[in-house]
Amino acid sequence: MSFTPTSVLVTGGAGFIGSNYLLHVVRAWPETLYVNLDALTYAGNLANLASVEDAPNYRFIHGDINDAELLARLFAENAFEAVVHFAAESHVDRSILDPTAFVTTNVHGTLVLLQAARTAWDGAGTPRRFHHISTDEVFGSLGPEGVFTAETPYAPRSPYAASKASADHLVRAFGTTYHLPYVITNTSNNYGPYQFPEKLIPLVIRNAMKGEPIPVYGNGQNVRDWLYVEDHVKALDIVLRRAEEGSTWLIGADQEINNLDLVHLLLDEVDRVTGKHAGSSRALIRFVADRPGHDFRYALDSSPIEDQLGWKPEHDLNAGIRRTVAWYLDNVPWMDAVLDGAYRDYYSSQYGSRGMN
Ligand code: NAD
Ligand code: TYD
Repeated sequence: MSFTPTSVLVTGGAGFIGSNYLLHVVRAWPETLYVNLDALTYAGNLANLASVEDAPNYRFIHGDINDAELLARLFAENAFEAVVHFAAESHVDRSILDPTAFVTTNVHGTLVLLQAARTAWDGAGTPRRFHHISTDEVFGSLGPEGVFTAETPYAPRSPYAASKASADHLVRAFGTTYHLPYVITNTSNNYGPYQFPEKLIPLVIRNAMKGEPIPVYGNGQNVRDWLYVEDHVKALDIVLRRAEEGSTWLIGADQEINNLDLVHLLLDEVDRVTGKHAGSSRALIRFVADRPGHDFRYALDSSPIEDQLGWKPEHDLNAGIRRTVAWYLDNVPWMDAVLDGAYRDYYSSQYGSRGMN
């Protein structure tokens, strides 16, 4: 299968993964127009895209995926052949504080976008693709053994995971009911440049740079599989171009580590690069109250995308962490610019009552 769209709608392209995706594809495919529709919530940042903003095949539209009229106009004006749907509320802890926006954007917003694509593509004679970007968290929580596969039953446990699972179900239902040509990717935890510093890895790097306490939830033994974002976006581009309609792909890095070991790795790298005494930043670690319903472990079987589509991650965890720490240390103004008063309010409601001092 080979699909070469000439016009692509990317939603949420000013966020962490969406901007890394656009930085890759806008340069890789100069003949393809990429229209980035983003509501610029706290997580969206156009500065991420400064190096492509003047590219002739890139356009930004400030708007919401819940705006059906705007979507109809964009589809009519740009004749999109593909949608790559990143836009979402993406942080589990925020979904625990207030799930409402998660349903509005991740569930209802996905429905509005699906309706727009379905209407615009009705009777289209040439191939189309609705690429929905999802997470391994839809499958729930693993014990110490085993991995998720594309056949694992859904068992979401946080409001974020439940909203993403709902969206996945809607996408598949549109495929079954209306023959909407979709692909879905479910991915493990990403890290790398341009990640908002509410997520574990940039939060640890930032707090270490400022000498501030590092919050580790519970006993720090929860396990994640960490995928370097530049490897992820290459996988996404391969899936859009090569995967069969109606298929689902799991994308992981096979780099499992528990949170405490990961925090040690990060802090030791910050100490090394900044010339601090080895191990000194570990003194900043604070064990705080656990996340309610904290999923113990995620792990994915990525062998289908490796065997059938020929993708493999290029960075192991050590290489990815070295590049990531270097990027944040080199981009302090980016970090300071995204951390406004609203972030500080979130930070104190999230951590203020959790035993962090
Ligand atoms: P992010 O929070 O960094 O970015 C989300 C982007 O969506 C922001 O630019 C925001 O402004 C935009 N947005 C939010 N609501 C919108 C709306 N109603 N209309 C238009 N734009 C809106 O998220 P991310 O980490 O880049 O994640 C992107 C996608 O990948 C999400 O769907 C997420 O569920 C999924 N995912 C993320 C990870 C991860 O580790 N970050 C892992 C697996 C899957
Ligand atoms: P996070 O980056 O929020 O991703 P997710 O919840 O989607 O996996 O968190 C990664 C892991 O780190 C998760 O097990 C929760 C834990 N964590 C902490 O221990 N301290 C923190 O301050 C944060 C944000 C997360």
